[in-house]
Amino acid sequence: MKRLANSGTNLLTEIAPDVERLFNRHLEAPRLWFPHEQIDWGQGENFADHPWSAENYPLAPGVRSAIYVNLLTEDNLPYYTHELLAHAPAGHPILDWNHQWTMEENRHAMVMRDWVHITRCIDPVMLEEGRRVQMFKADVPHPETLADLICYVSFQERATQIAHRNTGAHLPKFDKMGRNVLALIAGDETKHYLFYRDLALAGFAIDPSAMMIAAAKQASNFAMPGSGIPNFTRHAVRIAREGIYGLSQFLKDVLEPVLKLWDVDHLADLSPEAEQARIDLEAAIAKLTASVERMAQRLAAPAPALS
Ligand SMILES: [Fe+2]
Ligand SMILES: [Fe+2]
Repeated sequence: MKRLANSGTNLLTEIAPDVERLFNRHLEAPRLWFPHEQIDWGQGENFADHPWSAENYPLAPGVRSAIYVNLLTEDNLPYYTHELLAHAPAGHPILDWNHQWTMEENRHAMVMRDWVHITRCIDPVMLEEGRRVQMFKADVPHPETLADLICYVSFQERATQIAHRNTGAHLPKFDKMGRNVLALIAGDETKHYLFYRDLALAGFAIDPSAMMIAAAKQASNFAMPGSGIPNFTRHAVRIAREGIYGLSQFLKDVLEPVLKLWDVDHLADLSPEAEQARIDLEAAIAKLTASVERMAQRLAAPAPALS
């Protein structure tokens, strides 16, 4: 088990009743959807007889990239589970949560892949090659402390929810199957986000300084899990250009609402290190806001005339 850094509080022990409370809340509203029921199997065609072609399902490159990256991110589940379990000692309720979370996440890649193969919205060969490369690398973020982990996953689950939701909204109207599949996944991600977001809130009540330091660090260095995906940066740029997920969504839909809910501006009794972290976070957000505004101006500017 990894040791908690900063402060004399044992966050892992003290947060256990909150883990239990939020886990029970999560179980009170189960989302019992079945992957096999979401797929129109009759639409499928044999790839041996009908090889994949981009014309099977015309789609903007940024939307194809979003489906590819989102699905491969779901495929990487074993390594996220492994990372989460590293913070969960035997007998701690966070172990039960991790098992529940893994069980729920497991169906996302399954149902997405069925939809992708039936509709042919992305190249199945590229997808499988991407899966092989990414999973062999086993590259996932490694938050140092429990406080870091809770803050990171709060941002990440929210970001994943937004990415699936916006990808679904970019699918053509005829693809009701895809819209439904991505809406169901986004619904699961919403519940995961609510668990971690509120667990972080409980963490702020227990050890505001440790959580402030972690929140500032994770907000400033946040990256979507996906660095093991081939050509990840190129796909990320396309996804952002399409308006599905990028810096702008990270700022407006992830950071701002989450930090507001944690009320980081009004935390009291912070250590000097945590006060500094709050100042650093403010500066990081101001910088991010300026970048997002610059990008929006560039996009709004008329394209230069061709000479
Ligand atoms: Fe997921
Ligand atoms: Fe999730």
